[in-house]
Amino acid sequence: NFMNELSGFHELEQQIKGTLNLDHVIITPGNSDEHDWVKQELGKAAVDYLQSIIQSNQTIAVTGGTSMAVVAEMMSPASYAQNSMFVPARGGLGERVENQANTICAEMAKKANGEYRLLYVPDPLSEESYQSIIEEPSVKEILQIIRQADVVMHGIGDAVTMAKRRKASKDVLHKIETGKAVSEAFGYYFNNVGEVIHKVRTVGMQLEDLSKINCVIAVAGGKSKAKAIYSYFKQGKSNVLITDEAAANELIKGF
Ligand code: F6P
Repeated sequence: NFMNELSGFHELEQQIKGTLNLDHVIITPGNSDEHDWVKQELGKAAVDYLQSIIQSNQTIAVTGGTSMAVVAEMMSPASYAQNSMFVPARGGLGERVENQANTICAEMAKKANGEYRLLYVPDPLSEESYQSIIEEPSVKEILQIIRQADVVMHGIGDAVTMAKRRKASKDVLHKIETGKAVSEAFGYYFNNVGEVIHKVRTVGMQLEDLSKINCVIAVAGGKSKAKAIYSYFKQGKSNVLITDEAAANELIKGF
């Protein structure tokens, strides 16, 4: 399409789309690891893409992280879609408040003139609490909305970076390191062939729910994330990737 031609990354986008078997790839200039403006461009591209596909009365589930926080920062009302509902895909996952899915989803809703619903559940949860929390009527109701989301937008992180950022226990960190986890998304840690090495037990979107959702958009850039992106897509059910030039160039080296 016109936007892709303009971006100058058309060929690279096609190559990644083909190899990772995706429906759509968008590449923005630069390296998110180095400059904030690059991440903002990534966020802007994510907002533009969302607005190009979203219809009125649809639900958008979002995850946390700094990339998604920038998507929220760049959010604006869509011209054609009304009554958007934003929900967090899963719990807080140990992020700082400003990078939690709840915070991001409330900000997106505000900027898009939409509605939002939040999930008030601590994580990680013990098996016992998990079982009783999912029976709570208020939690059940929001979980229903989350699972029926029309669009999911999420971040992808490097496994060890994420485990440390979340202050994971020694045991979990050990499991992630010995299991050679490479990527993390939705609270799942994957190795280089896409197997789940560890999963944070919390309510919300589970990996198997994603295959029922038509549009799952990954937003992740930076040269340092290329390996993680590749690992995630070995298993990941996402069909759209919004990334930057540095991650894309590094990514194709692995093909
Ligand atoms: O913790 C939420 C989350 O979306 C993770 O699933 C993902 O690994 C991470 O944030 C990405 O964070 P960032 O965009 O800051 O790299």
